[in-house]
Amino acid sequence: MFAKMKLIFSLVLINIVLGYSNADEVKCGTRKVDSEKSLTIGDSAEIKEFPWLVLLRYEDANGTNAGYRCLGTLVNNNAVITSAGCVEPTEVILKGVRLGEYNLATDTDCIEKDDKKDCVDPVKDVGIEKKIVHSDYNSTTGDNDIAVVILDQKVDFSDSIQPICLPKADTETKPGDKVVATGWGRSQKGELIVTMKRVVSTVVSNEDCEKDYSKTTKTVTKNNICTKELEDSKHFTCAADSGGPLMSVSDNVWNVIGITSFGIGCGNTFADGNTKVASYVSWINDNIKV
Ligand SMILES: *[C@@H]1O[C@H](CO)[C@@H](O)[C@H](O)[C@H]1NC(C)=O
Ligand SMILES: *[C@@H]1O[C@H](CO)[C@@H](O)[C@H](O)[C@H]1NC(C)=O
Repeated sequence: MFAKMKLIFSLVLINIVLGYSNADEVKCGTRKVDSEKSLTIGDSAEIKEFPWLVLLRYEDANGTNAGYRCLGTLVNNNAVITSAGCVEPTEVILKGVRLGEYNLATDTDCIEKDDKKDCVDPVKDVGIEKKIVHSDYNSTTGDNDIAVVILDQKVDFSDSIQPICLPKADTETKPGDKVVATGWGRSQKGELIVTMKRVVSTVVSNEDCEKDYSKTTKTVTKNNICTKELEDSKHFTCAADSGGPLMSVSDNVWNVIGITSFGIGCGNTFADGNTKVASYVSWINDNIKV
């Protein structure tokens, strides 16, 4: 009797200890697939490849669903970073966040690998508690195009839902660095795509980038990272990919170094403008604490 009670007591204790350690330990930037292809080949992404990517859902003024029009990046269990333009669009209202998506056309996402079916948990749709747009955001110039979205609940992590790491504030990129973006925006031929894509790019200098934007209202500043897709990339970023992550990996840990912000059309040789996350690390940390 006493031994049994002792066993029960120790089981309870173990659960409590495990419970606490799970809640405390948020291991960012890791995932269940290997990293090799992620930085070399622009193509369809693998399932579980970018588990921090989320879709932003909109409604019009009458509450009619207006679909997914932007992306965001999960940085802990209840906060997403995205562009300011995606949080304050002019015609629609940001209403929800979808996590754990891979194939937009299927309810349960699976891939066939070596004759085996590999499936992930169903998507998780959540509401929004708070939207915080950077107070110096300028939609004309694209300056400070960053926002934090606080979810209305803490989500459980899984193979298809994981947070990415923020970069260190002194993280620098240099022209030629390989970086990767992702999303579901239109393909090269303008077709809608249903499975998550991987877009591999190289960083270009801000000077080169400024030349592309000299005839536009957008300004390229030290708070931007500009990129160009690899020439053999099957995919590139397009309108619906706004707000999504620009990523790099070091020691197998993924960091969100940029947020897709502005571009000139898509699938051409113009550089893409991304908000440089390293410039905003303390702003993000201040605003994801609720
Ligand atoms: C909302 O509903 C009103 C009244 O039915 C209609 O006049 C208006 O066009 C609708 N607005 C949108 C954005 O659908
Ligand atoms: C945005 O920047 C433009 C160009 O510098 C400036 O004219 C405008 O007043 C700014 N808008 C806001 C809201 O700060």
